Amino acid sequence: MRIGIFDSGYGGLTILREIRRRLPDYDYLYLGDNARAPYGTRSFDIVYRFTLQAVRHLFDRGCRLIILACNTASAKALRSIQQNDLPVIDPSRRVLGVIRPTVEILPDLSRSGHIGLLATPGTVASHSYRMEVEKINPRMTITEHACPMWVPLVENNEAASPGADYFVRKYIDELLTLDPAIDTIVLGCTHYPLLLPKIREYVPDSISIISQGELVAESLADYLRRHPEIESVCEKNGAIEYLTTESAEKFDGLASIFMNAPVTAKKITLT
Ligand code: DGL
Repeated sequence: MRIGIFDSGYGGLTILREIRRRLPDYDYLYLGDNARAPYGTRSFDIVYRFTLQAVRHLFDRGCRLIILACNTASAKALRSIQQNDLPVIDPSRRVLGVIRPTVEILPDLSRSGHIGLLATPGTVASHSYRMEVEKINPRMTITEHACPMWVPLVENNEAASPGADYFVRKYIDELLTLDPAIDTIVLGCTHYPLLLPKIREYVPDSISIISQGELVAESLADYLRRHPEIESVCEKNGAIEYLTTESAEKFDGLASIFMNAPVTAKKITLT
């Protein structure tokens, strides 16, 4: 079986890249629902429906373990899928998200206990990060701020363009005005590391910026160590297959840049 990695579009590639670096031997199946991205401005019901379709598709292609490499899907669909759908589909299969592994390391990183979260409107409205932070350390303060223009910039290959600067600076300034004591900013959307060079320009050097790739990769390595029944059935040829719901040629162009390797995707339809 291959490990499934799902995102609304290109963002999950920032997670796959780090997972692949940390666990190079395993086989992966990546699915980007580019035709329906962005998810971040969609309602709870739609994100849940689209994510469940993607999960079923990856299961049908033989994945037994899927990482939702998308905060919006982790915030809005993960719990329902784990609690309601998996017991019916196949209780031995697993779907994991990216929010828990990110929040778990925050107490070790922030000195002031003031965290800033930049994420999609959907993730912010769900308050999933705030709820997780409160469970782990109620003394930490998290200020959640939505960046609705950042995913479209990435999906349209405008992340490095001069026009991106306006919106990168705007949301960072707004966040730091809401809480000037923030010493750690979490990029709570897997698309955002693709804007990192610009984000770094507008965040003061004294503030740490957390991207999720390495955290999720480490947490997957730990999960596989603790679950030999899943680890032992994982194929290990170091292969990656890519699926997209948009044009494969379009996906290949941008994904090859992100992955720093040639990518040849297959177009599929999710129903
Ligand atoms: N990359 C996704 C996330 O981590 C969602 C982006 C979107 O489709 O809005 O939230």
